[in-house]
Amino acid sequence: MCGIVGYNGKEKAIEKIVTGLEALEYRGYDSAGIAYFEKDTIQILKKKGRISALKEILPKKDAQVGIGHTRWATHGEPSERNAHPHRCGKFTLVHNGIIENYLELKNILQENGYSFLSETDTEVAVALLDYLYEEEKGVLKTLEKAMKMLRGSYAFGILFEDTPDTIYAMRHSSPLIVAEKEGEEFIASDVPAILSYTQEYYLLDDFDIAILKPNKISFYHDGKEITKEKLTFEGSLESSQKEGYEHFMLKEIHEQPRVIKDTIEYYFDGTKNSLFQNLPDLKKYQKFHIVACGSAYHTGLVAKSWIEEIVHLPVDCEIASEYRYKQVFYDSNTLVIVISQSGETADTLASLRKAKKDGIDTLAIVNVIGSSIAREADQVLYIKAGCEIAVATTKAYSAQLALLSLLTLKLALIHETIREDEFLEIRKQIETLPQQMEKLIANPQYQKIASTIYERDDIFYLGRKLDYAISMEGALKLKEISYINCVAYPAGELKHGTISLVEQKTPVIGILTVSEIQEKTISNLKETAARGAYLILISNEEIKEGNELILLPNIHPLLEPILAIIPLQLLAYEIAKLRGCDIDKPRNLAKSVTVE
Ligand code: G6P
Repeated sequence: MCGIVGYNGKEKAIEKIVTGLEALEYRGYDSAGIAYFEKDTIQILKKKGRISALKEILPKKDAQVGIGHTRWATHGEPSERNAHPHRCGKFTLVHNGIIENYLELKNILQENGYSFLSETDTEVAVALLDYLYEEEKGVLKTLEKAMKMLRGSYAFGILFEDTPDTIYAMRHSSPLIVAEKEGEEFIASDVPAILSYTQEYYLLDDFDIAILKPNKISFYHDGKEITKEKLTFEGSLESSQKEGYEHFMLKEIHEQPRVIKDTIEYYFDGTKNSLFQNLPDLKKYQKFHIVACGSAYHTGLVAKSWIEEIVHLPVDCEIASEYRYKQVFYDSNTLVIVISQSGETADTLASLRKAKKDGIDTLAIVNVIGSSIAREADQVLYIKAGCEIAVATTKAYSAQLALLSLLTLKLALIHETIREDEFLEIRKQIETLPQQMEKLIANPQYQKIASTIYERDDIFYLGRKLDYAISMEGALKLKEISYINCVAYPAGELKHGTISLVEQKTPVIGILTVSEIQEKTISNLKETAARGAYLILISNEEIKEGNELILLPNIHPLLEPILAIIPLQLLAYEIAKLRGCDIDKPRNLAKSVTVE
């Protein structure tokens, strides 16, 4: 949600900032802007639209210090006026996050003679700096004072006109890293922006301030200078590049067999007696709350079904933006599990904090190492998905599922709810997962089916139990990237109203992996076919009823969802491609949602 980059060095700052912004464009892409020092004055250039549009107006200047921004609009429409950087007096800044008390601050500032050009909260923040500087006189003191007054989330990159060799940075609840390599210094919202220079970086903590001067980076917290530990990014530069694939989404779909293998191998060693490694002790827990947003929430729904059906323990699975504000019932035997690819999703983070405040044990399943959720949870389990760039998640989703399936298995063994022969069979099947995934990815059917249905305005996804949870993710994938109106329904529920939308040739995608209720779902699908629906079935059994059948391997229900999602991801991808959509950067979306 908005990408920030800053560069301080001897090379061409404008080019370096733009390259960094391009690596962060998945965070938001409705406008972009840059500010740089030209001698002692700050120049600002902004443009509505993508970074490619900004590039057209950038001068070939040899600036050495600057900051840049790619925006996902929160306050005010995407426009040049609302694009960052924003300036007031001697301060210029770029911002990722939301200042929650901006109206209150705006009133105070207006009473003190300030006027505003944009509708943004960011312009209020920069005006606040200017206002406070009058009293404080030093930039560091001004930033510290501002931290006490700003509420909400922010990662700021700041230039101050009197110090043309310096970048200031500070954060609260929005990610920001700082890096250096042979006299070049960077700030960035995420690691891909710096990977072509270095894999080492410092992670700012909440209320940290960084000051980047030539060959010297200083960190401050609570008015004192502090030292920070250097971290090393585990992935490679290639992991943040397309490597010949047409889209990041396609590349990431193809990476899934490896990601699943890596994730499983890190937590499960089928050859050893101990079996599980690096997993927490789960004996004490009798009840689980799983809390997440978007696709991560859908993995939670799958896990709910698994834990309830296989372990026979109750699970509440909640959307984080609801959970954080609702009356929650837990006890000392409840474990709150939050799931998040980015580890920065504002609502998931708030839910985690709520549980912690209530003294409940928390476990986070996260992809991005060192992210806020990872750091704040009592325990963290990392999936091994590596950098995920496409806005629509694929490999992080399936890696989350893989990890959740292992947690379920561990719980089933603890509570002795699984027979030994069943367990031994699963153990064998786990090893075959990557290979099965590869076969499904290579299935040539998706393009053909996509070409039959891609022009439709409505598509329905039906399933029961686990299949309903998978349907939800399938529908989300398609609507995210193709802009087709897709709805996932528990198969038996459609007839209570929504079936009125089914017309001749309306595509209905039926997920049929749960054998004990397969016949019921087939009956519901036939009800839609009787009204003209075009049936696409995804099943592990040869079913004759539909117009199209995508056959899944027959595998234990604990592993089936990890396979069943692949045809849905690839169907969504092929449909969006035929519709000419911007697959990696769908309209209105951003990958990391650091605002409520
Ligand atoms: C955004 C992304 C989704 C993601 C959701 C939760 O909406 O576009 O793909 O599932 O946020 O993100 P998280 O990083 O918490 O998994």
